Amino acid sequence: MADMKRMAGRRVLVTGGAGEIGHAVARRLADEGAAIALLDIDRDKLDAVADRFAGQDVEITRHVCDVTDAAAVADTVSAIERHAGPIYALFNNAGYQGAFAPVHQYPGEDFARVMQINVTGAFHILQAVSARMVATGGGAIVNTASMAGVSGPPNMPAYAASKSAMIGLTLTAAKDLAPHAIRVNAVSPGFIGPGFMWERQVEQQAAADSPYYARDPATVADQMIASVPMARYGQLEEIAGVVAFLLSDDASYMTGTNLPIAGGGQ
Ligand SMILES: NC(=O)c1ccc[n+]([C@@H]2O[C@H](COP(=O)([O-])OP(=O)(O)OC[C@H]3O[C@@H](n4cnc5c(N)ncnc54)[C@H](O)[C@@H]3O)[C@@H](O)[C@H]2O)c1
Repeated sequence: MADMKRMAGRRVLVTGGAGEIGHAVARRLADEGAAIALLDIDRDKLDAVADRFAGQDVEITRHVCDVTDAAAVADTVSAIERHAGPIYALFNNAGYQGAFAPVHQYPGEDFARVMQINVTGAFHILQAVSARMVATGGGAIVNTASMAGVSGPPNMPAYAASKSAMIGLTLTAAKDLAPHAIRVNAVSPGFIGPGFMWERQVEQQAAADSPYYARDPATVADQMIASVPMARYGQLEEIAGVVAFLLSDDASYMTGTNLPIAGGGQ
């Protein structure tokens, strides 16, 4: 499927581009012919991921940027356009899972941090990029929400609230930007693994001492998988395929959707 070249001649900005889902999506879009601008706050991880594209026939640029810093985001987006060219598509994906604690004990500072990265940061990127897309005549955007934003997993009040907000932001942005030929959709991954977020989630839920999960990570992993009708976690490539579809012209009549990628689970 990746031998399709649906993104030939198109530049895509991938935020959280040094992370697991960001990397997988960048890989898939590059395979489909896209030029890639990878953005992340973590310089070392960003270099490691970008270096993995070396020697391949892919135009790739790397951008260290904190999405919570509106001025830095504006500067980065204009630098990409100045030095590389117009951004046709955006995968708005940088995110932070937050602490694991029930709502009555959740650390307030961490709640603010989760909202700052996952909501305000996503808004900064969405605003800066969509303003350029309005000027250049259109584009496509995918925001990374989560099943947590509709199911409300225990011990994750900040993350769940932030991902619900991402869904709301997607719905309004789709309406605001449709007159400018910009489509805006969201994806909501469920349990995706293996990887940092999966391992961390399993460990932290086990440590949260709640009535919902066992106290050891291996049993928590089994409990989570047992809640998924397809009885497994999703692979990174299974996110990448859906994002590539939504950013391509194959999804030309789709905007304002939030697609679950969760094996039938919540
Ligand atoms: N992995 C899952 O199971 C899962 C499920 C649902 C949703 N998601 C969402 O998918 C997205 C990607 O997650 P992932 O699994 O690849 O995790 P990850 O931790 O591997 O990637 C997240 C990336 O975002 C970057 N980032 C964090 N704060 C930033 C900031 N302020 N500015 C710029 N970059 C920043 C991190 O450095 C990291 O590289 C996140 O939005 C996450 O909430 C993941």
